[in-house]
Amino acid sequence: MSQTERLPRNRTYLMCPPEHFTVEYAINPWMDTTVPVDAALAVKQWDLLRTTLVDLGHTVHVLAPVAGLPDMVYAANGAFSVDGTVYGARFRYPQRADEAAAHRDFYETSQWSYQAAEHVNEGEGDFAYLPEAHGGLILAGYGFRTDSKAHAEAQEMLGRPVVSLRLVDPAFYHLDTALAALDDHNVTYYPDAFSVSSQRVLAQLFPDAVLADRADAEAFGLNLVSDGRHVVLNTEATAMAEKVRAAGYHPVPVELTELKRGGGSVKCAVAELRP
Ligand code: ARG
Repeated sequence: MSQTERLPRNRTYLMCPPEHFTVEYAINPWMDTTVPVDAALAVKQWDLLRTTLVDLGHTVHVLAPVAGLPDMVYAANGAFSVDGTVYGARFRYPQRADEAAAHRDFYETSQWSYQAAEHVNEGEGDFAYLPEAHGGLILAGYGFRTDSKAHAEAQEMLGRPVVSLRLVDPAFYHLDTALAALDDHNVTYYPDAFSVSSQRVLAQLFPDAVLADRADAEAFGLNLVSDGRHVVLNTEATAMAEKVRAAGYHPVPVELTELKRGGGSVKCAVAELRP
């Protein structure tokens, strides 16, 4: 079967080094406060992810880490931008609340139109954007972190239709642990992370989606960053790498064992800026 060539599109990302990374509280099932984190190794792995993205031709901005905010490395949670407008995050847990201001400062000093949120939402952790699906579609998760009221708020602020999807498995507490955009119009996801009705919605919207299984999701294989051709995902997600390869994409594995201890991987560490 011949496949259309998967073409990359240059991206701009925002990342924050895990200099102050620890697991000192547990707000998701992956976090175990009794297992020590190797912060130096985390920084090394993070830097390899950053250079991988740069080497693929993308621009990576770096946000200064703040002491006392150990989860700040998960930069995806700080905001969600579409068409140059930034919908700011409002974190569910007080331990992460101050991260929102650090992201806000970044956007405000770089001339973005920043809109503060009234409702709880964790940025790209629970929002994904597909510019060419149905004319430009936002997918939004709720059930664990983001308040479903934030979905309507995001639609009002960003002017793109938002499709609400209910997450039902606590292991996959953010949308980006269960679903990822592979390019401008298609996604990959783990169906059972979603309610039965949300699975129907996804099947209707994305008949050609690459379906992942529980093992892929548990290996954080869906927590990937794709530029439309190169799919950057963590090395443990070997089966997922083969699935995206079979669909015509080019998997790029990176080692990110330390970040998994906080309940995240590649995508959690990378926010996409969409001018
Ligand atoms: N420890 C962080 C939390 O529970 C991990 C965030 C992962 N980020 C993501 N985009 N899924 O909030």
